[in-house]
Amino acid sequence: MRLCSLAALVAAALLCCGPAAAQFKNADAAIEYRQGALTVMDNHYDRIGAMVKGKVPFDAHVAQVNADLVVTLARLPWSAFVEGSDKGDTNAKPEVWSQPDKFKAAAQRLQDATVKLAEAAKTGNPDALKTAFGATSDACRSCHDDFRKKH
Ligand code: HEC
Repeated sequence: MRLCSLAALVAAALLCCGPAAAQFKNADAAIEYRQGALTVMDNHYDRIGAMVKGKVPFDAHVAQVNADLVVTLARLPWSAFVEGSDKGDTNAKPEVWSQPDKFKAAAQRLQDATVKLAEAAKTGNPDALKTAFGATSDACRSCHDDFRKKH
């Protein structure tokens, strides 16, 4: 009996708090959340970019730490593109909501690319890192072309 209710509790917790059911106070809060997540991801991504572009010396440990962060951060923004958050202080195009499958695929493409980026970072090989960084940047750019307003 006790075990049963515990299982029910765990199931309820998973249902209410899983990433797919992220909860936001309102549309503005969702916009703020996703822009914040994208900004933080961008920051850690740029630290790898600086190495790949030779602006700072290559450091395998720094690359790995930041790539691991990018993997985690790249999972966050997408559930915050909730219904109704197409209006407000956002640069998201209406296509995010009118072509949800395409948007989801673009988000998945990025997440797959970041996993490969982290794998490349683990090898400690700067060339592998550069290749994976290029593929990840393509995933950023491609989604921005389709789903982010130019400004
Ligand atoms: C699946 C689509 C998609 C992918 C992939 C994507 N972005 Fe974006 N990005 C967006 C959209 C849409 C916005 C606009 C969000 C808004 O204003 O509500 C955005 C906004 C941003 C912003 C501005 C945040 C702000 O404060 O307004 C940055 C920085 C950014 N992206 C960086 C990146 C980087 C770096 C990558 C790749 C590592 C990336 N994005 C990959 C869709 C994407």
